[in-house]
Amino acid sequence: MVAPLTQLELSKFADIAYQQTGIRLTANKLELMNNRLGRRLRDLNLDSYRKYLRYLKENLKLEISNFIQAITTNETYFFRYPFHFYMLSKEVFPALQGNEITLWSAACSSGEEAYSLAIVCQERLPNFFSRRVNIYASDIDLSVLKKAHEGVYNSYSLRNVRKDHLKKYFQPVNSDYYRIDPGLRDRVALGQHNLKKLFPRGKVDLLFCRNVLIYFDNESKDLVLENLVKSLKPGGYLFLGESEIVPDMPELIRLKSSVARKLE
Ligand SMILES: C[S@@+](CC[C@H](N)C(=O)[O-])C[C@H]1O[C@@H](n2cnc3c(N)ncnc32)[C@H](O)[C@@H]1O
Repeated sequence: MVAPLTQLELSKFADIAYQQTGIRLTANKLELMNNRLGRRLRDLNLDSYRKYLRYLKENLKLEISNFIQAITTNETYFFRYPFHFYMLSKEVFPALQGNEITLWSAACSSGEEAYSLAIVCQERLPNFFSRRVNIYASDIDLSVLKKAHEGVYNSYSLRNVRKDHLKKYFQPVNSDYYRIDPGLRDRVALGQHNLKKLFPRGKVDLLFCRNVLIYFDNESKDLVLENLVKSLKPGGYLFLGESEIVPDMPELIRLKSSVARKLE
């Protein structure tokens, strides 16, 4: 029987989590982490959190992915907060000039957000077929990227997808699961990226970084936002989560509480 996680042990795991991801595991996460890390202990056949802590430190490169998977919240679904997608077709796409358009779903989790962007581009981006459209999707957690690559989703995750789009862009796997069309899947370039670092793939026109800043403390939030703004082209758009507010930054004009445009 494993003794429950203590606050002292939690604070040691929290230091590693913060260093690696910017996520702040606060004292009120004790029970949640006891459950999530407990599963990892069982997988490794370890009988105490102290032993897991030592294992994690000694095998950081090997274990970090599993640790991050245990501490992150990956909740997502297609067309989450539909207003943002409506805004893309009504306001943002018509303003994007040029033959090459680059989009980035940062902290994409299992890919629903990135594939929703791919669908909206195909449906609503003027001259979609004659333009070069790059869609990047990244997350720190390799296990969700694997899911994104597999591209199989249940009906709960697809609840906001229109029936005609479900028919056009997905193939049924069984009564509850659908697979994303391989053509659409291949439009999205998936890769691991830590938001604490600068995005290595150049500047983008449109950046979705939704529902992740809430897990960071102010210091990590500032660093991540600075990196995100650096990754935007002049005139590029930044979307945060529905309940997140774009902070005052000299380079940004706030269009809605969660949406901003970088100055030209
Ligand atoms: C709640 S999900 C949000 C998914 C999607 N953006 C949405 O709004 O539906 C948060 C994601 O942030 C990722 N994440 C947490 N810390 C990160 C970091 N430092 N760098 C990149 N991704 C991170 C987690 O792995 C998780 O998949």
